[in-house]
Amino acid sequence: MATVIYPGSFDPFHLGHLDVVTQSVELFGDVVVAAMHNPSKPSGMFTLDERLAMIAESVAHLPSVRVEAFAGLAVAAARRAGADFIVKGLRTGGDFEVEQQMAHTNHAVAGVRTVYLPCEPRLVFISSRFIREIAKYGGEVAALVPAPVARRLAAHGTSTKDSDT
Ligand code: PNS
Repeated sequence: MATVIYPGSFDPFHLGHLDVVTQSVELFGDVVVAAMHNPSKPSGMFTLDERLAMIAESVAHLPSVRVEAFAGLAVAAARRAGADFIVKGLRTGGDFEVEQQMAHTNHAVAGVRTVYLPCEPRLVFISSRFIREIAKYGGEVAALVPAPVARRLAAHGTSTKDSDT
């Protein structure tokens, strides 16, 4: 068994992410879900604290998972978390292109390996970007996210609408 780190923006955490966490628990054992503070994505929907809370509630049924916030490099987060390697989920060939470059770079600069996990086929279309977009316009996204995230998105939509009026 191993300790792995699963870094991401998770803005918001969705069912595809949960699938990667679940697979990681089954395959490796201990999983650190690393919610990364990414200054190059200022247009996010949820604060880091909100993302941490939503993820923690969504993985509460998996005792070998811990959720932590990190800033900076994923490889530094991996070292601090005591992780043996990084895991990433792959949905499409587009994901592979991006992840392959990151994986090679992370290994070249820090010797940290990355393992890819194929996302469950029925979940491959889900993306945080489209969830944010649909939720922003008051659309229904409950089928795409864990229940704790659906609740926050609904509340977020309500507060956004209030502030618009
Ligand atoms: O969920 P995302 O936005 O696809 O996650 C991307 C993330 C946060 C995993 C990636 O941007 C990342 O690793 N950021 C930390 C900074 C870093 O390590 N950069 C070097 C990449 S080779």
